[in-house]
Amino acid sequence: MTSQADMQPTRKRIAVVLAAGSGRRMGGETPKQFLPLGGRTVLEHAVEAFTHHPAIDEVVIVGPAEHLTDIRRMAERNAWLKVSHIVPGGRERHESTLAALRLYEDTDVDLLFHDAARPLVSASVITRVAEALLEHEVVATALPVVDTIIESTDGRVTAYPDRSALRRMQTPQGFRRSVLRHAYALALADPSFRTTDDCGVVFRYLPGTPVHLVDGDERNMKLTYPEDIPLLERFLET
Ligand code: C5P
Repeated sequence: MTSQADMQPTRKRIAVVLAAGSGRRMGGETPKQFLPLGGRTVLEHAVEAFTHHPAIDEVVIVGPAEHLTDIRRMAERNAWLKVSHIVPGGRERHESTLAALRLYEDTDVDLLFHDAARPLVSASVITRVAEALLEHEVVATALPVVDTIIESTDGRVTAYPDRSALRRMQTPQGFRRSVLRHAYALALADPSFRTTDDCGVVFRYLPGTPVHLVDGDERNMKLTYPEDIPLLERFLET
């Protein structure tokens, strides 16, 4: 076990909370990160997990352009001293990642990207990612799958991947800044580039760079559908 003193970084650790999505799958006008959960917003829960964590030096919030004033007010109200930047995101998730990445050009930092829609990320998960980043350049949080997962096209099963090798990716995902920047430079030159997370960009464009896995947590689920709210509320109470 790494002690708190060993956890002192040689590089600054920056948490980036990605909150610029529109949450279309939730329905409704309000993006899911601004919905209430146990008396505060989903976004407040996610941000505070990092502002309260001793291994995190700074927190960046990437939000929808039209909600930046609300987020600034939220930061003031909560006295989030570690929040260093509140910036607008892009249309796609990876454009929101890039908005944060650009803030740290030419600096030697580690970045932990987290979905604002995962409000119950625990201190232990953040610790696992931060500790792993002392040794590894790219770190992902993952859990085993319990369902049988198939591949399908046009309503027909096309593959039965071996379940024992499958994992569900969560966030935070941690990176040496320069490695993620290099991966994105290659990705952005590829006209067929698409991704749903940041580790996938390193995996695809820097195949020689290992993506190290640490354990995620069932409570660190992503708010996606309205029926997830009562489940998150129950997790919050226990
Ligand atoms: O859409 P999805 O649930 O995968 O989004 C994951 C996280 O990424 C959410 O917290 C969402 O706010 C964020 N996101 C973003 N910018 C986008 C799309 C998603 O910051 N353009």
